[in-house]
Amino acid sequence: MKVGIIGSGGREHAICHSLKNSSKIKEIYCFPGNAGTAKIAQNITINLDNFDELKDFIFLKKIDLIIVGPEKPLVDGIVDFLEKNKIKVFGPNKIAAQLEGSKIFTKNLCNKYKIPTAKFGIFFNKKDANTFIENSSYPLVIKADGLASGKGVYICEKKDKALEAINEIFEGKFGEAKNLLIEEFLDGEEMSYFIISDGKTIKFFGTAQDHKRVLEGDIGKNTGGMGAYSPSRLINDLLEEKILNRIIEPTIKGLKELGAIYKGFLYAGLMIVNGEPYLIEYNVRMGDPECQTILPKLNSDLLDIIISCCEGSLDKTKIDWHNEKSLSVVLCSRGYPDEFKKNIPIKNLDQIKLNDNMYCYHAGTKIIKDEVCSVGGRVLNFVCLSKSFKESRNKIHNILNLLNWDNGFFRKDIGNKVISE
Ligand code: AMP
Ligand code: GLY
Repeated sequence: MKVGIIGSGGREHAICHSLKNSSKIKEIYCFPGNAGTAKIAQNITINLDNFDELKDFIFLKKIDLIIVGPEKPLVDGIVDFLEKNKIKVFGPNKIAAQLEGSKIFTKNLCNKYKIPTAKFGIFFNKKDANTFIENSSYPLVIKADGLASGKGVYICEKKDKALEAINEIFEGKFGEAKNLLIEEFLDGEEMSYFIISDGKTIKFFGTAQDHKRVLEGDIGKNTGGMGAYSPSRLINDLLEEKILNRIIEPTIKGLKELGAIYKGFLYAGLMIVNGEPYLIEYNVRMGDPECQTILPKLNSDLLDIIISCCEGSLDKTKIDWHNEKSLSVVLCSRGYPDEFKKNIPIKNLDQIKLNDNMYCYHAGTKIIKDEVCSVGGRVLNFVCLSKSFKESRNKIHNILNLLNWDNGFFRKDIGNKVISE
């Protein structure tokens, strides 16, 4: 089978790596991929805003299946476009992708189906939002609607921060803003819950906790994710039942009533408050670096699972998991998430020998003059599966110390909540 993967991050390298173990795979194409995927797939540079260009390439190479990694093409309707052209594709359609594309869409769905989430208000202009925050208690959460790469969320401890947030959002910091959300602050512990679905059947696809902030101690600016661990320490049977009954199942049902069959991965970002799950956000894809952290735990053929989703037979497909603890640490370019240098060689990379159950997934890398160079903020993901989170993290730190890339940095405290010193 010929499979195409859309995306260029660590998530896509991990998917690519997992697929290559499938006996059915003949060829993998990545659009556009990175230096890691280049070793196992053909990287193809195509303008992903031009779906026609992609379609022509798919027909030319007779690609049998497209897997969409990131949210943007999903929100832009790539699945609807490819399906209209009779191309098999794994991912939710444009209506379903609104779960990530519009926070207000999701909040309205929560209201309609009584899905537990933070209390909220939608504001259409600065004046009304400013008046509301005059009489609110703090902290408050202010969010831009639409995609903002995880950056359009402000946790405001005081009124002046809230005023600044409202101003920045309406001034267009995250693109044109017709409205914003003001939310109650939920005080609990976060976890991410993943499922895979063919529209009829929902199957568990792991739990994780990521570290979004750039600095140790979970402080500093938000990033795409500095590392993660799986499973989450919070999950148990009772909590899982609540998550499925109160959050995931009503969502899939609600989408069905809107005419959208949910096919793809679904990532629920949750806040657990006194054992009760609240939905913070949905992502209509795997997380990054959660995907890199979870996939090594998969003990079934990823391609078979994805094909069964496309064919509506997920109920007949078994998904098995390894029990070990998985942890990932992201090596970033110095300066990220602000300005950073590009095209810096990662000198010692080819000297690194990874033992079994250790993985190196590339993200912002490119081969320039036969050398692997950094081209993005998040550069490499090191993942280790072992009997304890501590052992996994220690093994990763050993590798990162050997690599000793002086243009890079990483957080040394990934998984602190589940690792006692
Ligand atoms: P989001 O992009 O909606 O996932 O928000 C980014 C981060 O902001 C989340 O991972 C949470 O840490 C935090 N956050 C968002 N909404 C809330 C809330 N209502 N209460 C507390 N923290 C929140
Ligand atoms: N790691 C967070 C995300 O993928 O959205």
